[in-house]
Amino acid sequence: MLEVSARQRYEEKFAQSKALFERARNVMPRGVSHDQWYADPFPIYMQRAEGARLWDVDGNEYIDYYGGHGGKLLGHAPPAVVAAVNHQIQKGTQYGAACDLAVEWAELVQRLVPSAERVEFMNSGSEAIMYGIRLARAFTRREKIVRFQYHFAGAYDGVSVGNKKPFDVPVSAGILPCAVKDTLVIPINSEEDLEAALRKRDVAVVMVEAAGASSGVVGIRPSFYSALRKLTTQYGTLLLFDEVVTGFRYSPGGVQAAVGVIPDLTALGKGVSGVMPGAGAIAGRQDIMDLFLLKDEEWNRYRRVAHSGTFNANPLCAAAGIAYLNIIATGTPTRSANQKARMLRDALQRQMDERHIQGCVYDSGFSVIHIYFGPCDLKQNCDRGVCLNAAKTRDLSTGQALFMNLALNGVKTPTRGYDALLSAAHTEEDIQKTAAAYGRSLDGLIREKRLLKGI
Ligand SMILES: Cc1ncc(COP(=O)(O)O)c(C=O)c1O
Repeated sequence: MLEVSARQRYEEKFAQSKALFERARNVMPRGVSHDQWYADPFPIYMQRAEGARLWDVDGNEYIDYYGGHGGKLLGHAPPAVVAAVNHQIQKGTQYGAACDLAVEWAELVQRLVPSAERVEFMNSGSEAIMYGIRLARAFTRREKIVRFQYHFAGAYDGVSVGNKKPFDVPVSAGILPCAVKDTLVIPINSEEDLEAALRKRDVAVVMVEAAGASSGVVGIRPSFYSALRKLTTQYGTLLLFDEVVTGFRYSPGGVQAAVGVIPDLTALGKGVSGVMPGAGAIAGRQDIMDLFLLKDEEWNRYRRVAHSGTFNANPLCAAAGIAYLNIIATGTPTRSANQKARMLRDALQRQMDERHIQGCVYDSGFSVIHIYFGPCDLKQNCDRGVCLNAAKTRDLSTGQALFMNLALNGVKTPTRGYDALLSAAHTEEDIQKTAAAYGRSLDGLIREKRLLKGI
């Protein structure tokens, strides 16, 4: 009997998504509004989410491993957050003035995040990064910034270089060379490279994705956190932790609370509002954050960091954020998600080992797991936690095929298929079902000769 390919089954199972894609393309250039949502031959359109589940327009149900791009540590629609938002929406969503809830929200962030002596809210992680850089440049009166290879930091022009090879070419058309000429990109975990970059004392800020590139695909050596702190202090450079994904997830106080290294500035996003869409924050040392103060005319015009934004600190995000962070503060959701990540990591690894597929599933030290197919020179002393193999590559088309096979088996990951973000809403039963779906997906990849068995 002729084998039906995964692609054929995808076209049949997701017929309504296919139809919607045809319609969407007449009005939206690629039918979606985020590069990571696009899938070949067409994306899947979702309609509903609850807990660890998603439902698409064809009525298919999925176990979701991309909840809020990492922001939903409680899963979708946690009742306390939904109740807070329902209550607030009747009282207004934007007052064109400050709101009382924003103060309580800021106090919670200050209590949880060690570096947050002061907090300023905005609308996204990208904005938080942009203002972090602006603050650092204004405070140090220096222009250069240092980033690490493969680290992602959102959409701001100044950081749109370095997260993809070639590291010196902007990741998008339309970004002027002058926008990234002061952005230096260096390898992670090398004190020599870091010191060489800082020695001229012209770097305003070193920014680091706090758990490593793409939430730990390539991790950070524990001793490198102290080196970051020591060397930036020594050379008068500020240290910014990008905790847009790790904030309120890695621990209630983020990576900084867990590793005990306190940056000068912290960029927050997603999780700060329990993924009520449209929130971010920059937090940090009071003397730096005081650049937002309004004083006399000369200061205001020439020395302060200006900040505006219609939806900044809006009461809807504040209500959601307060409800969400009060639960996060207990530490229970973090422990639960981390435990599920361990279980999933080990269960997926067993599926690979049973099929003799070369590769590894690791948990990057928190509730985000990553899959790698291929050899690894560092295998000997590895505990499948933080991965320091910066040389490994993850083939895009295999990742997309994995995504397709997993979706056909009721599991939803980012469209590159290699990553899974856990939440406290995932159950042990979800993990077992996912492991079985992963096994079937690996068999599909083997049949399609994308993976070789028996290495
Ligand atoms: C590490 C990191 N920094 C910054 C951003 C940008 O955040 P946003 O999408 O809210 O602009 C992201 C988004 O995924 C991220 O993962």
